[in-house]
Amino acid sequence: MPPNIRPIDLPPTSSTTRYLARPVFLCGLCLLAVMLPVASSCPPPCLCYSDGLVDCGGRGLLTLPPLHLLPPGSHSLLLANNHLASLGPSAFANLSSLEELDLSNNYLDNLPAGLFRDMSNLTKLTLHNNSLTGMERELFQVL
Ligand SMILES: *[C@@H]1O[C@H](CO)[C@@H](O)[C@H](O)[C@H]1NC(C)=O
Ligand SMILES: *[C@@H]1O[C@H](CO)[C@@H](O)[C@H](O)[C@H]1NC(C)=O
Ligand SMILES: *[C@@H]1O[C@H](CO)[C@@H](O)[C@H](O)[C@H]1NC(C)=O
Repeated sequence: MPPNIRPIDLPPTSSTTRYLARPVFLCGLCLLAVMLPVASSCPPPCLCYSDGLVDCGGRGLLTLPPLHLLPPGSHSLLLANNHLASLGPSAFANLSSLEELDLSNNYLDNLPAGLFRDMSNLTKLTLHNNSLTGMERELFQVL
C-alpha cells in the first residue's frame, strides 16, 4: 500500500450512523419533491393564482399549454396575446368550472364545432383580434 493512502478507521458505530442517516434524509427530500408539484399543479408556462385565475397571456404560445394541469375549480383562463392559430375540437374538454375564457389577440381562423360544449359555466368569452371569418351557429348554443 502506498504510504500516502491510509485506511479509514472510523469507529464502526459512527460509519453505520452516517450511512443509515443519509438515505432517510434523501428520501424525505424526494417525498417533498414529488408532493409539491401535485399540490400546486399549474400548466407551464402559465401562472395560477389562488383566486382561480390562470394567466397564460403573452407567452408566445403556438399551442395550448397542458390544460389537464389546470387547478381544479379554475374560473378564468387567459390565453390572450399569443400565437394560437388553431384549436382541436376537444381543446377545452372538461373545463366546466371556467367562467371566463380570453383568446383575444391570437391567429385563430376557425373554431371547431363543439369547442365550448363542456364549458357549462362559461359566461365571458373574448375573441377579438383573431382571423375568424364564419362562425358556426351551434358553437354558441351553450352560451
Ligand atoms: C374528460 O373527462 C373524462 C371523464 O373524467 C375522461 O374520460 C376524458 O379523458 C377527459 N377528456 C379530456 C380531453 O381530458
Ligand atoms: C358552475 O357554477 C356554479 C355557480 O357558480 C357552481 O356552483 C358550480 O360548482 C360550477 N361548476 C363547476 C364544475 O365548477
Ligand atoms: C393582434 O394580435 C396579434 C397576435 O397576438 C398581435 O401581434 C397584434 O398586435 C394584435 N393587434 C392589435 C390591434 O391588438
